[in-house]
Amino acid sequence: MTERPATPDTTRADAVGLREAMVTELRHHGAIATDRVAAALSAVPRHEFALGETLEAAYAADRALVTKRDEHGAAISSLSAAHIQAVMLEQAAVEPGMRVLEIGSGGYNAALLAELVGPAGKVVSVDIDPEITERARACLDASGYARVEVVTADAEHGVPDAAPYDRIIVTVGAWDIPPAWIDQLAKDGRLVVPLRLRGLTRSIAFDRVDEALLSDSYRLAGFVPMQGQGAFAERLVRLEDGVGLRIDDDSQRFDVGVLREALRTPPIEVWTGAAYDLPDELELYLMTRLRHPAMLHVGQEHIDSGRFNPAAGRGVAALIHAGSLAYRIKRDNPATASGYESGVIAHGPAAQEAAEQYAELLRRWADHHRRRGAATITYLPGGAGVLAPGQGVVIKKHGALATSWD
Ligand SMILES: C[S@@+](CC[C@H](N)C(=O)[O-])C[C@H]1O[C@@H](n2cnc3c(N)ncnc32)[C@H](O)[C@@H]1O
Repeated sequence: MTERPATPDTTRADAVGLREAMVTELRHHGAIATDRVAAALSAVPRHEFALGETLEAAYAADRALVTKRDEHGAAISSLSAAHIQAVMLEQAAVEPGMRVLEIGSGGYNAALLAELVGPAGKVVSVDIDPEITERARACLDASGYARVEVVTADAEHGVPDAAPYDRIIVTVGAWDIPPAWIDQLAKDGRLVVPLRLRGLTRSIAFDRVDEALLSDSYRLAGFVPMQGQGAFAERLVRLEDGVGLRIDDDSQRFDVGVLREALRTPPIEVWTGAAYDLPDELELYLMTRLRHPAMLHVGQEHIDSGRFNPAAGRGVAALIHAGSLAYRIKRDNPATASGYESGVIAHGPAAQEAAEQYAELLRRWADHHRRRGAATITYLPGGAGVLAPGQGVVIKKHGALATSWD
């Protein structure tokens, strides 16, 4: 495709045509489910928030456009991909007249929210970075959305002045849910947040139920990380060159020396006979059900050499058990419901036991939970002690997450 710069010469018709094509594609992929969200995406000129980008880049349905990087080159602000914005707006179910807080600004998503709440509603957008809020303010004013309020602050404390909010939509990766977000949510309000949970991010739509939050839906998501007081540091524990475990939770403690030894032992392989598919659903199940989980990441050189199965290349749920490590693999098997079968590779002195434990979960998932949306996630505020650590419970700083599976 020839890419044209979005200059003043660009005709309005070009932008309108590309915008409609984007909306059609988002509907086709299921990101847009309602006419109201489609109308909002059709109304807002996305390219006016994508300064310096081509029209084609602005209207590519699944492309995030980085607007700022840190000193190491990592993205810290972006115009999120229209796909995830549409998905989150559908999750949020924003109605005319509502009061909405957007956490993480850029202007475009706030303009979509302004379309959804209409003239009787209110949209407040907060960002920690004054450069971003200045830019968002200018873009909103220029495109006719001066009614959106833009605030510069660390969203750890929300924006109390305009609370309560019917909806809070977080557009930056969060590791926890600060008390201010629940306090500032209306009694029957909804919080949509891309939450980090044992190395996975899911955009979770939580409904407020008294002081707790109960999930209505969750979707696969990826966002730039939270800065400020709610910033979180994920660690990659190196087991050897090109092999590491991603840890984002204090409960994930391992004896690295013992695991290094385990990796030197020959692997065993166990096949389950259970169907494999929906990897994002399966991964959430495993990371909330395995007794001692961690995400295993392996460099391409180890896959090319045949030492590790390719499943470990993209990051895979691993079980750490009795100085041993197990992870899942798959193979074609037309006899299963999906045409693929799950299996396990394990290393270490208790490899057989670890593999059997893991395989049992793979079978249970395939037999009982192999569908979209089978998990219900509850967030209970209150800090350590609100829920005992255990199966399906992830302890955070300000509360705990419990995941159950229908
Ligand atoms: C993906 S961008 C937001 C995209 C935007 N909503 C849009 O319309 O495309 C994430 C933003 O979150 C901001 N951010 C990071 N940590 C924050 C914090 N603690 N409080 C408020 N904003 C924060 C970043 O500065 C960044 O601009």
